Amino acid sequence: MITNTELEHKGNLYPTALITYEHDQDTISFITKNGVRLHIQVLRDNMLRLRYSTTGIFEHDFSYAVDESQPHGFNQLQITETETHIVITTEKVICKVARDDIRVGMYNHSGKPILEDELGFHWEESFEFGGNFVKMSKSSKDQENFFGLGDKPTNFNLKGKRLSLWNTDQYAYGKDTTELYKAVPFYMGLHGNMSYGIFFDNTFKTHFDFCSERRNVTSFWADGGEMNYYFIYGPQMSDVLTTYTDLTGKPELPPMWALGFHQCKWSYYPESKVKEITSKFRELNFPCDAIYLDIDYMDGFRCFTWNKEYFPDPKRMVSELEADGFKTVAIIDPGIKIDLSYDIFKEALDKNYFCRRADGPYMRGKVWPGECYFPDFTNPEVREWWSGLYRELIGDIGVKGVWNDMNEPAVMEVPGKTFPLDVRHDYDGHRCSHRKAHNIYGMQMARATYDGVKKFNFPKRPFIITRANYSGGQRYTSTWTGDNVATWEHLWLANVQIQRLCMSGMSFSGSDIGGFAEQPSGELYTRWLQLGIFHPFCRVHSSGDHGEQEPWFFGEEVLDISRKFVELRYQLLPYLYTAFHNYVQEGMPILKPLVYFDQEDVQTHYRSDEFIFGNQILVCPVQEPNVQGRRMYIPRGKWYNFWTDKLVVGGKEMWVDAPLDIIPIYIKEGAVIPKYPVQQYVDQIKMEQMTLDLYYKLGKENSEFYEDAHDGYEYRQNVYSLRTFKLTGKEDEIILQQHKSGKYSAPYTSFKLNLHGVPFEIKKVFYENEEVPLDQIHFNAEENSMIIDKEFSELHLVG
Ligand code: GLC
Repeated sequence: MITNTELEHKGNLYPTALITYEHDQDTISFITKNGVRLHIQVLRDNMLRLRYSTTGIFEHDFSYAVDESQPHGFNQLQITETETHIVITTEKVICKVARDDIRVGMYNHSGKPILEDELGFHWEESFEFGGNFVKMSKSSKDQENFFGLGDKPTNFNLKGKRLSLWNTDQYAYGKDTTELYKAVPFYMGLHGNMSYGIFFDNTFKTHFDFCSERRNVTSFWADGGEMNYYFIYGPQMSDVLTTYTDLTGKPELPPMWALGFHQCKWSYYPESKVKEITSKFRELNFPCDAIYLDIDYMDGFRCFTWNKEYFPDPKRMVSELEADGFKTVAIIDPGIKIDLSYDIFKEALDKNYFCRRADGPYMRGKVWPGECYFPDFTNPEVREWWSGLYRELIGDIGVKGVWNDMNEPAVMEVPGKTFPLDVRHDYDGHRCSHRKAHNIYGMQMARATYDGVKKFNFPKRPFIITRANYSGGQRYTSTWTGDNVATWEHLWLANVQIQRLCMSGMSFSGSDIGGFAEQPSGELYTRWLQLGIFHPFCRVHSSGDHGEQEPWFFGEEVLDISRKFVELRYQLLPYLYTAFHNYVQEGMPILKPLVYFDQEDVQTHYRSDEFIFGNQILVCPVQEPNVQGRRMYIPRGKWYNFWTDKLVVGGKEMWVDAPLDIIPIYIKEGAVIPKYPVQQYVDQIKMEQMTLDLYYKLGKENSEFYEDAHDGYEYRQNVYSLRTFKLTGKEDEIILQQHKSGKYSAPYTSFKLNLHGVPFEIKKVFYENEEVPLDQIHFNAEENSMIIDKEFSELHLVG
């Protein structure tokens, strides 16, 4: 029998009627009869922050996610009252707060509901830990769909799912594993061609239910902390995402070598093995920019040490690799081996930098080195110390990138695979338990690593990759999807996960190509690599205990096909780099899921196989064995088959041929795609000519091409070049205009312009409105190509 007392103890509590409200500058503060306080802060005309306190008292306002360097603040509040509501109006959104129970509704200016509270804010007291479980529920529309939430290995459209965010080391995870390595409490809803975003900035364990428990209700809640969320209105998904990345930050441009092909394994050692691998890449003319050192390079897995038997002279080795065009990336984990003769352990112990349990003892746990203590990366002094530890590895030895792993944090052989919840953290002066710090531990480790690598690699750009992260962590680091498995299902997952990460502000991501656990067949390896070359981060990695995973291991045919695709990535580097530029500047995702590309077309809402790479290349991986092709959806518009130049009209599903050496790739009509010649590594050759592939369109299309020195910071002093190509295609004429900004001047002088799909024979060419003889521009009628000065501003091709 349920007694009243039990009901009271287990039940939810709700705000009661509004008694008063006040406002200053950009914030309105509402108070209810039962003491609940709601702060609504208008940050932009499309972004409002909502914070609730059940006691009327707010704790210190602090967030690791919000990028304080971004300007925000808004001070033109328009507040009106009706009998039932207090109404806040901005240029984009109308926000209504009910007098009865402070439930909130957001509307557009035509009065259409964007998002309305169902039960709205409510809470349950946490008798075990103090504080509250804070909860929010929203009513959702019939056709509403949901996207985002970081690295979740589940259907791309989250409708019908219930997921929680608690960073977890999930070796060989599977489809629908709910807790993975990252916590990105941000999602987008889409209904009636209106999109909005919710960022629930709460680092406790959070939960999201997208019409799973009740078909018309979406809810999110946390095991502690504050109900503190941002509502962002679109109506386009691109508006939501760029506002979210303005709030939580964007990274700096990575060095271009970080976009090349990377080879990794657990582990390549000793030095002779590393050299054998790198030499083989060069011997086989298989492009590669980076080689990784996994944990075995260390002395007994002690961070910042070397096993001198395997690597007698790391500095020499790293510089020899560099001379051969290879950057060295080394792993660094958070666990510090308990060993009083190990200087780093000793120093951290003396300085009290290790995490402790609630009543005093150090947090002790087993990882690769055996029993370890763990630095409290939420303490700014510890981060500073940690960043200084990179002096030798980066500044002296010359390692170019750092790979942070096991930072969920992972602990072996214990229930829950992580720290006990009572462990204490500094949380930048807001002391708390592991319940609150768990989800940001990895992010703060990566942040300290970023600071160190940046300092000691300066004036070159840093490269960091982490496994665990939290919203905003994209400012410091790239990421990968952890310990996946060499199965076809995981190839499908990799595709969905990387698109999801791109939609969650973390574009610089990739999967372990071929699978980490188990061993792929040659066919699976090939199909995975064909997808992987379109991922912002492109690395083969494997656990090493199931066999080899270098491209030559699977025989001639696989090697040749793999080379062809990796060469394609190297040719497309300037195009990919331009997509990175757009990501870094505007937060535009590098991969655009079809729903992001064309949200108005409801056909895209449940599609996840196909995606747009950059702005103009449509890709669809093959995710099944033994097939010669597949069906795929071609989004609206006209697209050229990359392999055949055949033009297709989109807005429908089609069969596309894809034998083992091909995957479906389409180019948007009107696109101008910049291409490099094939290189074995970035900057191997001095570029003498750049290729532009122009795809004819009857009508207009703009394309962009960003360049700079590929590394260093001069681009921030205007030393970059951003070219915009405006194409206007007519029945018997093409006009190509070029506008350039920035002070960077690339080493090449000309473009080789390759024309695709032009329906007429080119008879005359006008350069800056003056006719030029066709032989002067090396017009090749067979190829339909010509050579033009890179600084042209207007070109007319006439039939
Ligand atoms: C973890 C990582 C994996 C790495 C291994 C050894 O499993 O996810 O990438 O190779 O640890 O360091």
